[in-house]
Amino acid sequence: MEALVVRRLGDPTVAPGGEASPFATVSGDHPVPELSSPTAVRVRVAATSLNFATFLQVQGKYQERPPLPFVPGSDYAGVVDAVGPEVHGLRPGDRVCSFTGLGSFADFIVAEEKQLCVLVCAYFFWFRSTKLFFDAAVVLLVLGAAGGVGVSAVQIGKVCGAVVIAVARGVEKLQYLKSIGADHVIDSSKDNVIESAKSFLKATSLKGVDVLYDPVGGKLTQDSLKLLNWGAHILVIGFASGDVPAIRANIALVKAHLAFAALRDRKVVGKVMIVMGSSAKSRL
Ligand SMILES: NC(=O)c1ccc[n+]([C@@H]2O[C@H](COP(=O)([O-])OP(=O)(O)OC[C@H]3O[C@@H](n4cnc5c(N)ncnc54)[C@H](OP(=O)(O)O)[C@@H]3O)[C@@H](O)[C@H]2O)c1
Repeated sequence: MEALVVRRLGDPTVAPGGEASPFATVSGDHPVPELSSPTAVRVRVAATSLNFATFLQVQGKYQERPPLPFVPGSDYAGVVDAVGPEVHGLRPGDRVCSFTGLGSFADFIVAEEKQLCVLVCAYFFWFRSTKLFFDAAVVLLVLGAAGGVGVSAVQIGKVCGAVVIAVARGVEKLQYLKSIGADHVIDSSKDNVIESAKSFLKATSLKGVDVLYDPVGGKLTQDSLKLLNWGAHILVIGFASGDVPAIRANIALVKAHLAFAALRDRKVVGKVMIVMGSSAKSRL
């Protein structure tokens, strides 16, 4: 089968094969993975996401550093190809999706049955603290809202009834965020995020932000802390800006109940998948 193999850490933007590339030349002779247990399922991968985490991982900058060589790729959708003798809920031909640490940039991947979700339409990451969104009038502030995890946070927030303030850079991104339901959008490349959010909160008789969803970090995080309500939760998702923010203890003192548990208690119930091109679609 074909697989994208990282043979050494390096710049993932360099095309596979050459001396400077971290990737080995892609060939069709990578071994198809065997079913590794009686409850294992082999999936023919039809679509897989390119995540920021993968970009970091290939450079050796992610928190988890797999031994070399490895096949990257985390979330995927595809069709069940083979099942172990003790798999009862799935059979060849079923359409499934899942999330894994590694291995989805390949034609086939093996997972345990319990790690797979039947693909009905589209699902999403489910973070522990999203239960907060079910409370009435929870205000959710999403930074990097037009990015991969940001868009899912806006969508989940709206589904769960939150008032969503979305921050992104550029008119097109703001239009898109409005179209998926954001209640207020802020262009951080030209607007003052704090002033804009405060005006919106005042106009809607809301006190402040209850949940800060932060995949960006840096100054944007520092500024956003000024908008938090007492008892607010901060979901530390990532640092797309490359700058890990320092959150001063006085913020915890004044706001209290800051929660940094997004990673610890995360579980996956599915993932929005984008399938590019008609040939990939037909394989699903
Ligand atoms: N905790 C988890 O489970 C988890 C899961 C997935 C991803 N992550 C992490 O979350 C972060 C975002 O991932 P993603 O897949 O959403 O990435 P992405 O699609 O590239 O989105 C990141 C967004 O951050 C914004 N941004 C603001 N300042 C930036 C800067 N200086 N440089 C780059 N982007 C900047 C960009 O939007 P604007 O240009 O509109 O500002 C961009 O759309 C990454 O650090 C990733 O590792 C964590």
